[in-house]
Amino acid sequence: MLNYRLCSFFTTMRAQPQYPGGNFDWVAPLYDALSFFVFGRSLQRAQTLLLGELQPGASILIVGGGTGFLLEPILTQCQPSQVLYLETSARMLAQASGRMFQKPILGSVEFRLGDETALRPDERFDVIITPFVLDLFTEQTLAQRMLPRLRQALNPDGHWLVTDFVRTDKWTHQALLWLMITFFRLTAGIETRQLANWPRLLRKAGLIRLESRSAVGGMVVSEIWRLATVS
Ligand SMILES: C[S@@+](CC[C@H](N)C(=O)[O-])C[C@H]1O[C@@H](n2cnc3c(N)ncnc32)[C@H](O)[C@@H]1O
Repeated sequence: MLNYRLCSFFTTMRAQPQYPGGNFDWVAPLYDALSFFVFGRSLQRAQTLLLGELQPGASILIVGGGTGFLLEPILTQCQPSQVLYLETSARMLAQASGRMFQKPILGSVEFRLGDETALRPDERFDVIITPFVLDLFTEQTLAQRMLPRLRQALNPDGHWLVTDFVRTDKWTHQALLWLMITFFRLTAGIETRQLANWPRLLRKAGLIRLESRSAVGGMVVSEIWRLATVS
């Protein structure tokens, strides 16, 4: 009986992942507090390191922005012409859109529930932002599904801003990454078991790195990439 209750508790808690990047609905109310508990504000600061390099007036696609912390710095610093906020978690999306009401910020933001497959075939953006999202996927999903679809949505002279964890030789970083991945596998049902080498996959997908800044003791980078060949 107890066994059955425990099983159904974990099934409800975890929800069935509909996407390879998991279902963050259960984690959404706790996400910012957990992130602050482990990293303070350093993960948020890392996401803003290169915002000043993005051209004003750009159309911006934010993929997996979570509870929406990044909206205010983007709207105030980048003054985009348009923002599409694409999120697979309905609860994350509700929190992000709620921020716009709590603290009115000027700017046009469309909130859309779904993953990269919810983009229309003709949609193109000057800037794509993936903040702590590529780390949720296996190399196979990144190479075969996510990166090609996002690359297609990038204007030929557009920029892709990635902020994410990277592999390092430090055992403390490796242990922390393992803990985080295990936690999100259990609570959100993310598919991956280890951090993908996403810089290699971006290069393989035909992008080149323009800028890179390191954060959180080298465990995180924020980078701007663009298409290698501008057609
Ligand atoms: C680890 S959280 C990061 C949230 C936020 N960017 C931050 O740094 O606080 C990953 C977020 O990406 C969302 N997500 C996962 N896969 C996605 C996809 N394919 N398209 C859009 N959002 C996705 C999740 O719902 C979650 O909110």
